[in-house]
Amino acid sequence: MSDATPVQPRNAFSLATPYRDVTCGELRAGDAGRQLRMAGWVHRRRDLGHLIFIDLRDRYGITQIVVDRDEAPEAHAAASRSRPEFVVSVEGKVTERLPGTHNPSLETGDVEVRATRVEILSEAQTPPFYINEPDAPVDEAVRLRYRYLDIRREPMRDRLLLRSALVRAIRDAHHRAGFVEIETPILIKSTPEGARDFIVPSRLQPGTVYALPQSPQQLKQLLMVAGMDRYFQIARCFRDEDLRGDRQPEFTQLDLEMSFVQEQTVMDFVEAMAIEVSRTVLPERPLLTVPFPRFTYEEAMERFGSDKPDIRFGMELVDLAPVLRAGGEGTGFRVFDEVLEVGGRVKGIVAPGMGGATRREIDELTAFARRYGARGLVHVSSDADGAVHSPVAKFLGEERLSAMLRAAAAGPGDLLLVVADDPAVTADVLGRLRSELGERLGLADPAVLAYCWVYRFPMYQWDADNHRWDATHNPFSGVVPEDEPLLVTASGDPYRPAPDDPAGRARAMQYDIALNGWELGGGSVRIHRRELLERSFALQGYSKERMHGLFGGMLEAFDFGAPPHGGIALGIDRWAALLADQTNIREVMAFPKTSSGTDLMLDAPSAPDPAQYEELGLRYVGPAPAAGAAGAATGTGPGGTAGGGAA
Ligand code: AMO
Repeated sequence: MSDATPVQPRNAFSLATPYRDVTCGELRAGDAGRQLRMAGWVHRRRDLGHLIFIDLRDRYGITQIVVDRDEAPEAHAAASRSRPEFVVSVEGKVTERLPGTHNPSLETGDVEVRATRVEILSEAQTPPFYINEPDAPVDEAVRLRYRYLDIRREPMRDRLLLRSALVRAIRDAHHRAGFVEIETPILIKSTPEGARDFIVPSRLQPGTVYALPQSPQQLKQLLMVAGMDRYFQIARCFRDEDLRGDRQPEFTQLDLEMSFVQEQTVMDFVEAMAIEVSRTVLPERPLLTVPFPRFTYEEAMERFGSDKPDIRFGMELVDLAPVLRAGGEGTGFRVFDEVLEVGGRVKGIVAPGMGGATRREIDELTAFARRYGARGLVHVSSDADGAVHSPVAKFLGEERLSAMLRAAAAGPGDLLLVVADDPAVTADVLGRLRSELGERLGLADPAVLAYCWVYRFPMYQWDADNHRWDATHNPFSGVVPEDEPLLVTASGDPYRPAPDDPAGRARAMQYDIALNGWELGGGSVRIHRRELLERSFALQGYSKERMHGLFGGMLEAFDFGAPPHGGIALGIDRWAALLADQTNIREVMAFPKTSSGTDLMLDAPSAPDPAQYEELGLRYVGPAPAAGAAGAATGTGPGGTAGGGAA
């Protein structure tokens, strides 16, 4: 190495290392004249014979290196051997580029480094896709198989940097608000969050398993009992459930819990934190509304048909029953009458400018509505001359149809879509149609961040198959104080839940935060009294034995002075994806799983070594593992021996 003068003073916190004085992203015109060292990957190489240009890349940026055969013949020889993605170290002098050769698309574009020495540190095969063409489409399986190359490309690199900035801003905000970051264990006992557990057999306690946390729910509540008010954690969670664009089996939550709080306290903090974090990470993206709108669950379902509404556009659901019934008697349309008679709803949404939709488009929307349980989809429109069109015109008559259009504020050229069904199906189908059409018609401004709250969810929903009240969200959620008397069964015995129990009407101190139509997070003020928690568990169908088996530790802790407490968890992957404008959280995860839960790079999951089974006292009795599972790779496929079974 030469005795080049470092650009920055050498201190352990600087980016300078024995291989480099500066990174590839930092040289500017003012640095001209400096002699220095750099290192990075060959991003692009242009060989003009006596001159070789190398775009040298690291994660900080790109700097142009010029190697002149006359000035530095040895460096030139090394540069001519180099190929894209070789790792090289370069020594040279920073010079301002000649007039007309400045590159405004590079931050370092005013300068180049004239190399006096080039050394190849590491060679590279031709990569399976171009690193220097970030927009070139690459099959996702190939990207995942070579994720380390994918991350070299600008889009993935930028998203991981954004994610890091997000987590940092989250940590800063929490520390400033007096939160303590505490890690909770990964090998724990089942904490139900509605998914299957991943389990890990114990070697030291044969025949037993740990469960990986679906969330640190019980542990954070126990930290409140322990007096560690204001806990937070960037927590890894594991849920064995079917994957979707916004779900991975292993994901990260911002998990927090606070003592001596009410719903408002938690929502106020999280809102202030989310505003600060958004403005820090993406100052250029406007927040739609501050403070964030807060809808009760009832209002959200009534207006948007969703508990995670995208409020960047209107298209709210309109109740059409009042105009349909205005004339007294019936509506004239048997389907509507039948629905309204049994307490159902007739509601609609207006698709702006879709009045001229083709038969095929309408059929497609009808199929969409049917897929989510609607019996049909009625449409009404009026043309520029005011003529009203609808396939049910002969039943409802022009006057009623016009009144419906007026009630829905549908103008000429708009399309009114109507669903008549039981209240839940009507809301759900119209809510989904609203999202679908909002997307198709481009109604939502992609630049805007629209957060909102939905709170006061029903505490339970009846599970007819298992004859119990399932918690709609979190089994530990508290009940709205005035609804506490409802936490009972009709029979008086909490262990005998039935569909007509008052408990079905109780509302939970539960709040969800949504961002641009995605559920970002959810939390609640918890039950902190043992007696009430036991009653709630009983309604949820837990026998005394099972309750104590699963939650005994927590119930016992509540006998030792539990403060009122509440918290929330926000999906970091979802948050990062939304901030990075992505529709799949894989795009903001360094090493995600495929939709079938595999890691294509490490070839996981894989069959264990037979010795590992033996040590754990396990025998595999299932079907042969899927091709490609690493049983094949390691040659240790399970034997399919009968009997035994997982511990
Ligand atoms: P919940 O189950 O609603 O609440 O989860 C909170 C948030 O975590 C994210 N999330 C996921 N992200 C990616 N992949 C998944 N499979 C996945 N599952 C959930 C979502 C979700 O809103 N213990 C409670 C929180 C509390 O009450 O404090 C809990 O985990 O963004």
